[in-house]
Amino acid sequence: MSRYAVIGNPVSHSKSPLIHQLFAAQSGIQLDYSAIEVAADNFDNFVEKFFQDGGAGLNVTVPFKESAFKLVQECSSRAQVARAVNTLYINSSQQLCGDNTDGIGLLTDLKANCGIQLTGKNILILGAGGAVRGILGMLIKELPGSITLLNRTLARAHALQQDFAKIANIDVHDYSSSVNKQFDLIINATSAGLVSELPPVHASMIGPDCVCYDMVYGDKAAAFVLWARKHGAKVAVDGLGMLVEQAAESFYIWHGVKPQTAPVIAALRKS
Ligand code: ATR
Repeated sequence: MSRYAVIGNPVSHSKSPLIHQLFAAQSGIQLDYSAIEVAADNFDNFVEKFFQDGGAGLNVTVPFKESAFKLVQECSSRAQVARAVNTLYINSSQQLCGDNTDGIGLLTDLKANCGIQLTGKNILILGAGGAVRGILGMLIKELPGSITLLNRTLARAHALQQDFAKIANIDVHDYSSSVNKQFDLIINATSAGLVSELPPVHASMIGPDCVCYDMVYGDKAAAFVLWARKHGAKVAVDGLGMLVEQAAESFYIWHGVKPQTAPVIAALRKS
C-alpha cells in the first residue's frame, strides 16, 4: 500500500491522517497515511530515507516548511513565492519536488465556502510570520484593492513588505498606528490564539460586510472568532476549511483526483 505521512513537531494533534483517509475512501484509493514527529535536527535525513524506502508523499507542517523548501530539487512557482513547502513527492525524473498548497487552500475556502471574492477588496492581515508568507502570493494574484498588514514587531512586517515589493504594495504598521480604514476581509495569521490571546486590533476596522478569518481552527481560533462576532463581522470563521482544502490540493498532486471537501469539512465539524 502506498505510504504517506504528515511530518512536524509537534504533530500528534494533526487531523491530516483522518482527512486523507476520508478522501481516499471517497475515491476508492488504498493508502497508509500517518503523523510522524521528527526531531528538529533530523528533518533532511528523515525525508531522504522516507522516499528511499518507497514512501509516496509527505505533508510538512510547523516548523519544517522552510527546511523543506531548501531541501527540494524542484518546486512550484507558488512554493517559490512562499519560500516554504508543505507537500513533497518524487517526480518522474526521480527528483524531490515541493509544492505549497496553503495559499490555494485558503483561497478556495474563502471563495467557495465563505462566499467572498477578493478582487478589489480591502484586506487586512494580522501577523508577519511564516503563515503569512505562505498565503500572500495567492492573495495578491486575486488583485485585491489593497493589502494592509499589522504586526507586533514592525521590523518583521517591513522585511515581509520588502520581500513582496516586486509583486505588491503592502501597507504595513504595528498595532499602535491609527489605521483609519475599514476592511472587507481580516485574516488572523498570528499565533496569538495558540495561547488564547487576541492580537490588539481595533474593532473599528471591521467593515460592514466584513469576513473575519482565523487561519487556525477550533479552540485556537476561539478568541478571534468571538471578538469578530461580538463586533458585527458578517462572517467569522476558523481555518478548518482551509485545512481541508489545502489537504485536497495535496491529494490532487499525489493521486490526480480532486476529492469532495464539503462532506469532510462537515464530518470534522461534527467531531
Ligand atoms: P507562523 O509560522 O505560525 O507564522 P511565526 O513565524 O512564529 O509563526 O509568526 C507568528 C506571528 O504571530 C508573528 O507575526 C507574531 O508577531 P511578532 O512578529 O511580533 O512576534 C505574531 N504573534 C504571536 N503572538 C502574538 C500576540 N500575542 N499578539 C500579536 N501577534 C502575535
